[in-house]
Amino acid sequence: MPKTSPVSVGLIGAGRIGSFHGETVARRLVDADLVAIADPAPDAAAKLAKNLEVDAAYTDIADLLAHPGLEAVIIATPARFHTNVLVQAAEAGKAIFCEKPMALTLDEADRATAAAKAAGVPLQVGFNRRWDQAFAEGRTAIDAGKIGTPQLIRSLTRDPGPFGADPEKIPLWTIFYETLIHDFDTLLWLNPGARPVEVYAAADALVRPDSRDKGFLDTAVVTIRFDNGSVAVAEANFSALYGYDIRGEVFGSAGMVTMGDVRRSSMTLFDANGVSNDTWRRDTDHFIHGYTAQLASFVRSVRGEGVAHAPTGADARNALAIALACIDSVKTKSAVSMLS
Ligand SMILES: NC(=O)c1ccc[n+]([C@@H]2O[C@H](COP(=O)([O-])OP(=O)(O)OC[C@H]3O[C@@H](n4cnc5c(N)ncnc54)[C@H](O)[C@@H]3O)[C@@H](O)[C@H]2O)c1
Repeated sequence: MPKTSPVSVGLIGAGRIGSFHGETVARRLVDADLVAIADPAPDAAAKLAKNLEVDAAYTDIADLLAHPGLEAVIIATPARFHTNVLVQAAEAGKAIFCEKPMALTLDEADRATAAAKAAGVPLQVGFNRRWDQAFAEGRTAIDAGKIGTPQLIRSLTRDPGPFGADPEKIPLWTIFYETLIHDFDTLLWLNPGARPVEVYAAADALVRPDSRDKGFLDTAVVTIRFDNGSVAVAEANFSALYGYDIRGEVFGSAGMVTMGDVRRSSMTLFDANGVSNDTWRRDTDHFIHGYTAQLASFVRSVRGEGVAHAPTGADARNALAIALACIDSVKTKSAVSMLS
């Protein structure tokens, strides 16, 4: 029997995306309540709790996990903390939604999925692109055989510019671990059943060449060969001056699907300067529906409504394996086999 009362959700990490997910649970979902927020930064949880009218704010995750009646958590801490927090939440018996990347090593990924399995709790990972309407419809068309056998697959992430962050505050290899990890999941998901066999990555600091010597990377192209013969390309850049540009494409033996549009809407302005469109500038605007749909599905799976919790820990591990192969490829300047 599905439960009828709302799911009690706790948020761990009250930063940029955690605040947005917290707002989604508190304001956009009817079958979930945001009941507690934890963040070690002084006042971060308390401030967000005040804004979202949540009664409980903690600086210690253990206190949040002990919050009476808590059923599920959203993990939105920086990536390097994800696995430990996830294991702690699993051991406390909470259903888990974890932002990407779930882990930074394959051992960590295995530890995370094993902890969720041992505790018998749902684990869903935040690959939100799967929940975007265009991408979801693309996958449906592929499943229906409308493009035949996939041959060429493409996924790209161009973050909106100008790039304003301090490269020294961005962990090494972020372009693979945190940016292209979305594209790797998308490419795997749009090529159902196929396994990557070889990865080659070229990367550089073209936006901030002054940080190249410190190992900072803001631009990358990755080619992936799959065991069904298809070849994929993923690319990323941290500073698209025209907007937040996320696109996918699958070309097959019987046709092609394309997904994603940097234009905000079909509204097109015709004036003395010519013809123009506004573009997406923020992920939380572009993917508001996808971000909401992924958490709505998570909540429904926790409520026992027969919805599978996906993307899974195994999906996160598969995307991570490609990211790790990319890092290896950049270091060795050669293609990396994924067969071992
Ligand atoms: N799916 C997406 O599209 C998407 C978008 C943005 C960010 N993310 C991911 O979400 C994660 C967070 O990103 P962000 O931009 O919100 O980061 P952020 O730096 O803005 O926020 C992180 C927050 O976590 C807190 N924190 C640090 N250590 C903690 C701990 N041990 N326990 C609890 N809280 C802790 C920090 O104080 C901070 O408030 C990253 O893994 C990032 O890759 C995903």
